[in-house]
Amino acid sequence: MNDHPDLWSKSQSPDPFDQIMTCSSVEDFRKLLRAYHCTRCPLSSEIKQNPTTSRGNPNRHVMMVGEAPGHNEMIQGIPFVGKAGQLMDKIFESIGWTSEKDIYVTNICRCRPVDNRTPLVHEAKTCISYLKKEIDLIKPRFILTLGATSAKYLLGSALPSTAMKDIVGRFFQSEEYPHIDFFVLYHPAALLYNSKLRDPMWEHIQLFRDHLSRG
Ligand code: URA
Repeated sequence: MNDHPDLWSKSQSPDPFDQIMTCSSVEDFRKLLRAYHCTRCPLSSEIKQNPTTSRGNPNRHVMMVGEAPGHNEMIQGIPFVGKAGQLMDKIFESIGWTSEKDIYVTNICRCRPVDNRTPLVHEAKTCISYLKKEIDLIKPRFILTLGATSAKYLLGSALPSTAMKDIVGRFFQSEEYPHIDFFVLYHPAALLYNSKLRDPMWEHIQLFRDHLSRG
């Protein structure tokens, strides 16, 4: 028996991270994560921030995974609401989808790295626990990875190369997620800087749409 009252009450209070990891709905996941002051990696102290969550339709079988939130996403607490997200919305519109209705939108990392640098390995590997929980709740049939970071941390050694030019527009599978087909896309932010990537991006999204419509 534990006869120390302080220790006893601490051990009884539910840990917020455990609550997130054991919740049973996307609604609870979003609510708990948004309220949680996560300190599991140094990103939370680089810029004072609570984790961003997700947006879109949790009942669809397509999930889109980006890298990490930017400034606008941190303010609103949801991913892909800035320029890159608006461009992505247009790309989905070109195949008749809206990101709110037809897809679930989330990220590898939940906090914004300073100056939007690429997340460090230990940041991404720590934060991916939240994405794994989402995958478990949603059970997507397809995951669209956006950009090199998303492909790297979801597919790792299942990829023949880490260079985007070798993997973009292609389907992959991973032993870790046996029921999911992954399709690699450019990150929309890359299209904002390099307009030469726009045509291939449109071709790739159509290829994905055609694959889906063939069943
Ligand atoms: N870029 C990302 O990868 N994710 C966002 O949420 C916003 C920009």
